[in-house]
Amino acid sequence: MNERDTEHMLAELKEKENYIATDDFKSADLILINTCSVREKPVAKLFSELGIFNKKKKEGAKIGVCGCTASHLGREIIKRAPYVSFVLGARNISKITEVLHKPKAVEIDINYDESEFAFKDFRSSKYKAYINISIGCDKSCTFCIVPKTRGDEISIPMNLIVDEASRAVSLGAKEIFLLGQNVNNYARRFSGNHEKTNFTKLLQNLSKIDGLERIRFTSPHPFHMDDEFIQEFAKNPKICKSMHMPLQSGSTKVLQDMKRGYTKEWFLNRVQKLREMVPDVSISTDIIVAFAGESEKDFEDTIDVMNQVKFEQVFSFKYSPRPQTEAEFFPDVIDSDTASARLTRLQELHIKQLDEKNASKLGNIYEVYFEELYNDGFVSGRSDNNIVIKVKGSEELLGEFKDVKIISIGRTVLTGEIIK
Ligand code: 5AD
Ligand code: SF4
Repeated sequence: MNERDTEHMLAELKEKENYIATDDFKSADLILINTCSVREKPVAKLFSELGIFNKKKKEGAKIGVCGCTASHLGREIIKRAPYVSFVLGARNISKITEVLHKPKAVEIDINYDESEFAFKDFRSSKYKAYINISIGCDKSCTFCIVPKTRGDEISIPMNLIVDEASRAVSLGAKEIFLLGQNVNNYARRFSGNHEKTNFTKLLQNLSKIDGLERIRFTSPHPFHMDDEFIQEFAKNPKICKSMHMPLQSGSTKVLQDMKRGYTKEWFLNRVQKLREMVPDVSISTDIIVAFAGESEKDFEDTIDVMNQVKFEQVFSFKYSPRPQTEAEFFPDVIDSDTASARLTRLQELHIKQLDEKNASKLGNIYEVYFEELYNDGFVSGRSDNNIVIKVKGSEELLGEFKDVKIISIGRTVLTGEIIK
């Protein structure tokens, strides 16, 4: 989501102010830091990075702090780092060309509605197009700061999404990647009046676009994974067979404390349904360990879900209390040694499961869509079910589909050879 926000800002700056992007910050006229505030660590990192940029930047260059930490700390950022030129919240990015000319501007209104803003076009990849389908989040997970930094959930009108996807496809993208905090809650609310619709209908309309081969999305919410959604996922050939299912915890009690809206049994039931209907689906997840009040038994429930599901990918985090969240002052904080030990155990289990799964892939054949050139004579892409595969090759492969046979196994990238 932050990557797409960055593309939007670059597009506005390029079209309206003639900026071009550079990777060399020492020669830049403007340095933008797009921030995350989901955990505490990146927030601390912001201030150390700001200090470095300020010391090494070109004379007169501006520094802007954007994104979720901008929303949540606001003017405080300028107080702590007075050389910052402006602060631009995650839901105000369309104002990037305005704040550029307003010294010390702080634009962080989380009620600002950008759902119909016609952002100029800029994409860092020609082959895959990120497309926002909603902004904000209406859930109130007790650990999460996002609703306070990105505001209420507003869906982007379907016709705008379909137009954007068609444009990207006409410029060469064969894959689109739909983005939202809760994509399968699409059409919960629009800013104007719109016909009743839902995520399944959006997927159906997008798959009518000629030349569009693959549709991915993130993140769906396990609570909204009804049968209709799973059926569409299973039977629509353009929808890639990889699903992100953020578990957060395997314990029903912790899920309740987190206000996630589902139980361990519901989650397992949805996984079972998905695997029944799409046997080669790959499932990824997010897990928080050591949430306030998480007992050993609760943690064992998470391990149990890991053992039952055997996720293809796990993003795991130690719980980090966040300001303005309900859980900030929950009692029964788990000490940091216990939290670290739980995280290590979970990650080691995942690696063991991943190695076992990967070993069975030797000799398999996957259709790969190539999208990235490495500088060591390899090109990589993904299978429909999201396995990263590289082959020897050059630029001509980018944007192409090829059948690839796996010849060697790595933990995160498999190596193959093109057979067709
Ligand atoms: N502490 C740790 N992890 C968090 N996440 C969100 N908030 C927190 C927090 N306070 C994780 C969740 C979410 C992912 C994007 O970040 O797992 O799905
Ligand atoms: Fe945060 Fe929950 Fe919304 Fe995800 S669904 S962004 S975890 S509040």
